[in-house]
Amino acid sequence: MATFTICCLPGDGIGPEITTEAQNVLTAIGRQFGHTFTMTDEPIGGAAIDTHGVPLPEATLQACRESHAVLLGAVGGPKWDALETAIRPEKGLLALRKGLSLYANLRPAVIFPELKEASYLRPDIVADGVDVLVVRELTGGIYFGEPRGREGEPGQRRAMNTMVYDETEVRRIGRLAFEAAQQRDKRLCSVDKANVLEVSQLWREVMNELAPSYPDVTLEHMYVDNAAMQLVRDPKQFDVVVTSNLFGDILSDEAATITGSIGMLPSASLGDEKPALFEPIHGSAPDIAGQDKANPLATILSVGMLLRFGLGLEQEADAVDAAVADVIAQGLRTGDIAGPGEAVLGCRAMGAAVVDRLQARKD
Ligand code: NAD
Ligand code: IPM
Ligand code: MN
Repeated sequence: MATFTICCLPGDGIGPEITTEAQNVLTAIGRQFGHTFTMTDEPIGGAAIDTHGVPLPEATLQACRESHAVLLGAVGGPKWDALETAIRPEKGLLALRKGLSLYANLRPAVIFPELKEASYLRPDIVADGVDVLVVRELTGGIYFGEPRGREGEPGQRRAMNTMVYDETEVRRIGRLAFEAAQQRDKRLCSVDKANVLEVSQLWREVMNELAPSYPDVTLEHMYVDNAAMQLVRDPKQFDVVVTSNLFGDILSDEAATITGSIGMLPSASLGDEKPALFEPIHGSAPDIAGQDKANPLATILSVGMLLRFGLGLEQEADAVDAAVADVIAQGLRTGDIAGPGEAVLGCRAMGAAVVDRLQARKD
């Protein structure tokens, strides 16, 4: 029994809808296990631009720093798309990740047995299940490299970004990925573009240097173009995938299609210090925002990761995962994972169903 402060950042679009359901699940876990989760909502992204003029107000970052863990919905939307990069909603999320030094983003892509039909892949390809963990480097690479920006003259505009890693950045994400593989099927695939990019050659060198320290893990290297293809051709070949910021962003959305919907994929962003950040991998889904159509399960599963990795509450995390597995097994579906003719639940009803299952499992 303990008291935890959780900083909640609903953000934009479907963000407030999905975080509300996730917060309800956290409250239910608190009731069930005798913990108190003190939750505060702070502005980020477009919502913060509207009220504070910046995507990550200092007070929001401070509130995050003072919490035990951070739960985020999503940021961004068409309303703010015309703003320059430095003050866009997405910049708030990037500054938060950087500000908390969260260099490792764990993105598990698991297919629920009852959702195999929802997969975009042929049934025989997902028949034996899919369980891939993408370990994405999150505070370096082309997202943050300098120099960057717009230059040139009228009539000949130019823009520039720089992909850069130093060996310390590669080594720390590599270690974390090897350790993750040790806890799983002991297969690590490092994804790069070492046939073209020097930064990838360094990445590969450092991964190879780490390998002898993890003799129980088999390390393989793959070029990112091939990896994108192999992921849909034969996802079962992958256990843990470690890759850079941009490649990990792209491959994890691709992995989501295998599991049926991006609305199912949670993530944990970890650093060497607390607090860590937990968020679905999807965005603010402006096309369905405010319509009670969003799938809250990615955010609810992110609460599971928050309990496990953020607070060290394994049993509580297992309870969340089991409740989500139960509602899926019961045939409850939001629109994104519903098959033809299946009844469709809204975001609120799906969240409530998970809370009900938690309660039912307890009784
Ligand atoms: P998106 O992930 O928001 O949406 C892509 C598609 O998936 C849409 O059709 C959407 O309706 C659907 N979708 C996403 N989440 C869903 C859910 N929970 N339930 C049901 N369907 C869901 O990606 P996008 O359209 O490329 O981006 C929209 C905005 O979100 C942009 O401003 C982008 O920058 C931002 N974004 C934010 C994050 C984040 O906050 N971590 C991540 C990705 C994109
Ligand atoms: C994600 C998003 C973010 C990213 C954007 C919104 C900055 O796509 O979390 O996957 O590119 O990291
Ligand atoms: Mn993304």
